[in-house]
Amino acid sequence: MQFSIRTQSPEKCKTGCLVLAVQGGENLTRAALAADKAARGALRQALAGGDLPEKAGSTLLLRGVPGLAAERVLLLRLGERDKYDAAAFREAARGAATALKALGAKDAVLFVTDLAVGGRGLPWAVRQAILCIREVFYRFDQLKTQKKPAAAALAAVTLAITGAPVTLQAQAALREAVATADGTDLARTLGNLPPNLCTPSHLADEAKKLAQQYKLGIEVLERRDMEKLGMGALLAVTRGSHQPPKLIVLRYAGAAKSRKPLVLVGKGITFDTGGISLKPGAEMDEMKFDMSGAGSVLGAIRALAGMRAPVNVIGVVPACENMPGGAATRPGDVVTTLSGQTVEILNTDAEGRLILCDALSYAERLEPEAVVDIATLTGACVIALGHVATGLFANDQRLADQIRAAGEDAWDRVWQMPLWEDYQEQLRSNFADMANIGGRPAGSVTAACYLARFTRKLKWAHLDIAGTAWRSGREKGSTGRPVPLLVRLALRRAGRRA
Ligand code: BES
Ligand code: MN
Ligand code: ZN
Repeated sequence: MQFSIRTQSPEKCKTGCLVLAVQGGENLTRAALAADKAARGALRQALAGGDLPEKAGSTLLLRGVPGLAAERVLLLRLGERDKYDAAAFREAARGAATALKALGAKDAVLFVTDLAVGGRGLPWAVRQAILCIREVFYRFDQLKTQKKPAAAALAAVTLAITGAPVTLQAQAALREAVATADGTDLARTLGNLPPNLCTPSHLADEAKKLAQQYKLGIEVLERRDMEKLGMGALLAVTRGSHQPPKLIVLRYAGAAKSRKPLVLVGKGITFDTGGISLKPGAEMDEMKFDMSGAGSVLGAIRALAGMRAPVNVIGVVPACENMPGGAATRPGDVVTTLSGQTVEILNTDAEGRLILCDALSYAERLEPEAVVDIATLTGACVIALGHVATGLFANDQRLADQIRAAGEDAWDRVWQMPLWEDYQEQLRSNFADMANIGGRPAGSVTAACYLARFTRKLKWAHLDIAGTAWRSGREKGSTGRPVPLLVRLALRRAGRRA
């Protein structure tokens, strides 16, 4: 799908489908007004029929509208004027995309960015429109033998504006959005792949492919490297599995060498059975998504490299499976982490923090400017924040504020949770420096507190994406979050605002 942005007169657009926006009632936007004039009021007349519901994202398809060069016109509801916010804009963009998908149009011209969305500029609207359209058109059908015919044949999408010329920032936003969508697609596909295919080795292979395609630095540490380094916690998690563990280190250098890197650490448990602390059977298949943090790191790096962003980013992905078995770690085992601290593994299902603590200690050696880890870490985070906000924890408030702002901007939002010392006592162990679980209260906080013990020398933030990385039920599938947030964060740290 090819995107472009252009200044155009709506009535002259020769296109399979012209998308024109309407606010509440019969409130036509600028482009819709111009088209209505050329069509001698045909649009207003159609609206008067009352077939376009008020809800943002509703659509009404018209064919053979006189006076317009377009084959079809799709009237799109933006939502009422006083409620026109980021959420409504995204609803509208998704609504338009859903209608275009059903229609099977080959090309479309959308006039949806004429109205500013709550103080946000054209670049923001361009990014959001593209991400929403790509989200709707994403497909994962590589494992179906009977593929649906490619009704989704929308090949060219023009985001059109009236009056003003297209700014350089809007052009840059387009390139950024397309690359971000590519990265999000990668994260989604890695997440959706079944756990027999998306193994630690597969993640390493995908990282190698990215390295080749975008000329990135890559290193994959094998089990014996981990043993030599002393990654006792990561090794404890992989013990029960027949899949070899991998620690992937992927480097994108888009800025001066002197600039310290932003390090992204992604939890890469390709399947989480819980290990000897076995999970109950219901919905266990969803634990294939337990590598979503890893997927988002690879996706974000793909996006940043794809747009040649002026940033230095290193992805660190500890990847393994958490399986039961005769060689598996037992509850009560004590291991020595890469940091030298010892951990009593009281629950083998709290494995994410075990692989992350060694990966974070490894990240420290890369002399980062800041480290952000991304992990489907706790069910407790889903209880706290549901499927809307990602949980944010940080030992540096400036970094936390940057992440919150980037999430708001990308509409990939986070909510900050406490990381207070008061919670640390819950991790007390009688037999080691700490336990790997802190009991039922504040489960997502104690998980973050555990990680905090390995990041004392770093500017560090932790994103718990347990509730936001995938959807369950009929629409089961990876969301690709928080790739949009991570991309925006890296760009904003490099000084890009628009
Ligand atoms: N991968 C899970 C967290 C998870 C569970 C994410 C359900 C999304 C949905 C993680 O490894 C885990 O099992 N965490 C345990 C920790 C507990 C044993 C302290 C949990 O949340 O139950
Ligand atoms: Mn687990
Ligand atoms: Zn897990």
